[in-house]
Parts: sequence; C-alpha cells; structure tokens
Amino acid sequence: MDHVKELLGVGAETRQVRVQALAAVHGLPGIGKTTLANRLSHDPEVHATFADGVLWGAIGPLPNLLARVAGWGNVLGSQEMLGAGMLRQALEALRQLLRGKRMLVVLDDVWEVEHATPIIDACGADCALLVTTRAPGVVDGLEVPAHAVSKVAPLSPDQALELLELLAPTVVQAHPEACARLVAELECLPLAVHVAGGLLRAEERMGWGVEELLDELGTSTALLWAKAPRDAVDHDTPALPTVAALVERSVERLPPELKIAFMGLGAFSAQPAVFSLDELRVVLSELRVVEMMDDPRPVLRGLVSRGLVEPQGAGSFQIHPLLSMYARSLLGG
Ligand SMILES: Nc1ncnc2c1ncn2[C@@H]1O[C@H](COP(=O)(O)OP(=O)(O)OP(=O)(O)O)[C@@H](O)[C@H]1O
Ligand SMILES: [Mg+2]
Repeated sequence: MDHVKELLGVGAETRQVRVQALAAVHGLPGIGKTTLANRLSHDPEVHATFADGVLWGAIGPLPNLLARVAGWGNVLGSQEMLGAGMLRQALEALRQLLRGKRMLVVLDDVWEVEHATPIIDACGADCALLVTTRAPGVVDGLEVPAHAVSKVAPLSPDQALELLELLAPTVVQAHPEACARLVAELECLPLAVHVAGGLLRAEERMGWGVEELLDELGTSTALLWAKAPRDAVDHDTPALPTVAALVERSVERLPPELKIAFMGLGAFSAQPAVFSLDELRVVLSELRVVEMMDDPRPVLRGLVSRGLVEPQGAGSFQIHPLLSMYARSLLGG
C-alpha cells in the first residue's frame, strides 16, 4: 500500500506543474489487487491528498463504459450525463466536471486497453489514476511508466498462516505443520488460503478429522470447485461463482491455440510448477499443436502478457498451482 501511495503522489509536496499520475498494479487472479485498491480508497492519507474524493470503477471484461461514466456524473452532481446517448459526450462532460478537481480514479479489473484509455484521457492533470489488472500486457498497452507499475506479491508464509488461522483457528492450532505445508503448496495466494480456510472449518465441523483434507487441498481439485469468497466477486454477481469460474475468466478469452497450450501446462504439476522452453515444446508436440512445436515462444509471450505464466529468468517459467490445477481439469485428467 505504501508503495502504491507513493506512485500516486500521496503525501507528496504539491507540485507547481501538475502532471497526471497514472499507476498500475497487476498480479495473479486472487492475489489481492481489488482488496489493495479498495483499502487505498478508504485510506485517510489518500483522502487528504485527493480532497475531492475517489471515483471507483469496476471495469471487468465486458464493461458498459457509458453507464459507468454516467454513474460518476451522477455522483459528481450532474444529471445531464445520465441522458448522454454516446460515450464521447459523456466523457466530454466528465472532463468538464473533473477540471480543477483533486480526485483519485480507480479502474479496477481492466481487461482491455481500450476500456481504460478513454477514461484516462478524460481525467485531467489534477486527478490520479490507479489501474488494476491481471494482465501485464494491459499495463504495457496503457504505457504506464515503468516506475509506476507494481506487481502484487503473495503474502509471506507467516502472513498466509496467520490468515488461515483467522479463518480456521482450531485447525491451525491443532495441525501447525500440515497447515504451514498447505499454505506453502498454495504459494500463499490469498484467494486460495481464504477458500482453504473455509473448507477446513466446514470439515472440522463434521467431527471426523481434517487430516485428509489438509493433505489433499494443495493438490486436489477441491479448491477449484469450492465457492469463491463473497469479497472476491463483483457486487452485482447474483450467485457466488466457484474458484474455477474466477480462473476461467482469464482462460475463456484466449485464442484457441493459446488455450490448448494453457491446458498443456497442467502437465507441470510438481511444486513449484517450473518449466523450461524445451519442456513446453515437448508438451505442445504431445498435444499436436503442430505450428507451435518448433518455437513455443509466441505461446509463452501470449500467456505471460495475460498473467497466466510468470517468467523466472534464465529461460525458466512458472505457473501457479491453482492455475495448473485448472489447466489439468480442462485436460480431463
Ligand atoms: N492482504 C490480504 N490479506 C488477507 N486476505 C486477502 C488479502 N488480499 C486479498 N485477500 C483475499 O483474497 C481474495 C481475493 O482478493 P481480490 O479479490 O482482491 O483478488 P484480485 O487480485 O482482485 O483477483 P482478480 O484477479 O480475480 O480480480 C479475497 O477473498 C480477499 O479478501
Ligand atoms: Mg479483482
């Protein structure tokens, strides 16, 4: 939070010449991007810097930008945007409304560059913008300056265990080592730890012991088919989706050949799931993705830019266990 506040110029001296601050955070599904942005928008220092307030925009894969901008217009006291028939008109009205205002505009969960650029353009130099996205490719496309990009890191092992203990205290107290192993298997991803905590607490209630579940949770598909936590889902989603459905959002938009390649990553199940270019080449040829056999690099570029695979340097790549679990489930075993 401190780092992102710094990127947004929170608490900095008032500048003589105003330049719009544009910052971006990216990271894995469920790493805590929305949570971070949400906490920031309730932070007293943020409120002190952006005295005119915070505009929050949940963007998502299929946004209605006109409704979004008109909603902001309403909040800012202009009814006229509600009647705007075209996005261009509404954005122009937003530009006028924001002139001279010190506001933080949060664009959460951006999937396409073109969903964010018109809004960024309409926000004047007095505003700051924070974009969150799963996809490093979106950050590149928005041309966010490199120093203003922050990748959300997983919790530390101690923090992850602390989170699990908040959710299932007696399980962690009775099985500290197995729980420490579990959070390590889940690579301390807050979403996975949150869901695991709920499942363990429910299992404990059954009275037949949690050892089996503790052993399985890091590797079985039980986490994928569990319901996502309420706070990890858009407010207007009527029924709680599964964890798999949250992951699917990244996969369903892949071009067909990338989707097949992603499924192939289910082959890398060892923890941590690290693989090399050559190993990926073997998997792709096994899946008969003929065009890709010789050079898997285009595939990797696509998966990395969508945040599904992380480069580890020196020619090796890593996929998060939750994602490789999902890939394996698509392969059907
Ligand atoms: N620092 C944290 N401490 C405890 N729990 C956290 C933390 N960050 C996130 N969580 C929990 O993890 C879950 C996922 O968080 P969040 O929805 O913010 O992830 P996200 O990165 O926005 O995911 P997505 O890519 O799906 O939008 C939520 O249930 C949230 O409460
Ligand atoms: Mg989010």
